[in-house]
Amino acid sequence: VPRTPPDPHSPDTWIPLVELEWPEAAAAFNACYAGYLLPVQLQPDDLRHRVVAEAIGTDLSHVVFSHGAPVGVVLVARRGRAARLAALGVAPHRRRSGLGRTMLARAVAEAVLRQDLTLELEVFESNGAALSLYEGVGFRSVDRLLGFERIADPIPDDQPLRHDEPARLAAEMATGDAALLPWQLSPETLARLPPPWTTVSQVGGSSALIDLSRKDVVQLRLIHTPPGRRGCGLARQLMGALAAEAAGRPIRAPQLIPARYEDFAHRLGFETMTLSQRRMSLTLELQ
Ligand SMILES: CC(C)(COP(=O)(O)OP(=O)(O)OC[C@H]1O[C@@H](n2cnc3c(N)ncnc32)[C@H](O)[C@@H]1OP(=O)(O)O)[C@@H](O)C(=O)NCCC(=O)NCCS
Repeated sequence: VPRTPPDPHSPDTWIPLVELEWPEAAAAFNACYAGYLLPVQLQPDDLRHRVVAEAIGTDLSHVVFSHGAPVGVVLVARRGRAARLAALGVAPHRRRSGLGRTMLARAVAEAVLRQDLTLELEVFESNGAALSLYEGVGFRSVDRLLGFERIADPIPDDQPLRHDEPARLAAEMATGDAALLPWQLSPETLARLPPPWTTVSQVGGSSALIDLSRKDVVQLRLIHTPPGRRGCGLARQLMGALAAEAAGRPIRAPQLIPARYEDFAHRLGFETMTLSQRRMSLTLELQ
C-alpha cells in the first residue's frame, strides 16, 4: 500500500495502519484519545485483537503524523458493503483545527468509492464535540446503547456452567435474530474474540459471553437465549450461576446493549450505568 504523499502545504503525513508496528499504533491511539470520557490505555495486543475481531482494515485505517508525532487516528472496519468508523481521535493540541473533519471526510469519500452502502459508528451521548461533527456530516441516530452493572448476589445459585469458545455462541446467534445489534455484538465479531473471552451456558438454557480473568469485575458482552426458549426464566437462572463464578465481583456489560433491552436487564438485577452511546449511521448510496 503506497504512502499518501505529504501535502506541500501541510506537514501532516498519513500512514496506513498496515505500515506501523502494533506498539507504535497503540501509542498513537492513546495519544489521540487523551482526555477522553473514559481513560484509554490500549495495549498493542488489545489493538491487534480489535483489528481481527471487528474486521478493521489495516489498509483503510490511518495514523496522521506531524513532525514525527501522531496527531490523528482514524480506524475503519468493513464487512461486505457495510463500513464502520471504529475510532476517530485527534491529539489535544490539534483539536478544533479541522483534522477530525478531514479524517472523517476521507473515510466517507473512500467508503463511497468502494460503493459501501452504510458507514456506522457509536458515540457517547455526552461527547458533544464528536456528536456535532457526525450530525453535521449527516449521520443519523439508529439506536441508543446502554451499559449495565450488577452487584453479585449474596447467595448465588450454583447451577453448573459449561465453558466454550466464543464461536459457539456466535454460531447460535447467527441462526437467530442477530440483526439490529451493533457491530461489536454481531456474531462475526464475537466469533473472533480471543481468550480470555469465553461462552458460558447451562444445558438447554441461556448462554453468555464473559471474561472472568479480571480481579475487580466480571466483564459481560451479552446474554442470549435461543428464540424458542425465551420468557421461561433461563437468563435469570444463568445469571444466578454467573454470580457464583463472579464470587463477589460486580458483573458489568459495556455501553453496547440496545436500550430496548433495558427492562430485561433490570429484571435480571442490573442497573443502568450513567454513560450511554448512540449508534449512528450514514447512508452512502444517496451521496
Ligand atoms: C471528536 C474529535 C475527533 C474532533 O476532532 P477535531 O479535529 O477537534 O474536530 P474539527 O476541528 O475538525 O471540528 C469539526 C467539527 O466538530 C465539532 N467540534 C469539534 N470540537 C468541538 C467542541 N469542542 N465543541 C463542539 N463542537 C466541536 C464542530 O461541529 C466542528 O465544526 P466547526 O469547527 O465548524 O464548528 C476530537 O475532539 C477528539 O479527538 N476527541 C477525543 C476522542 C473522541 O472523542 N473521539 C470520538 C469518538 S466517537
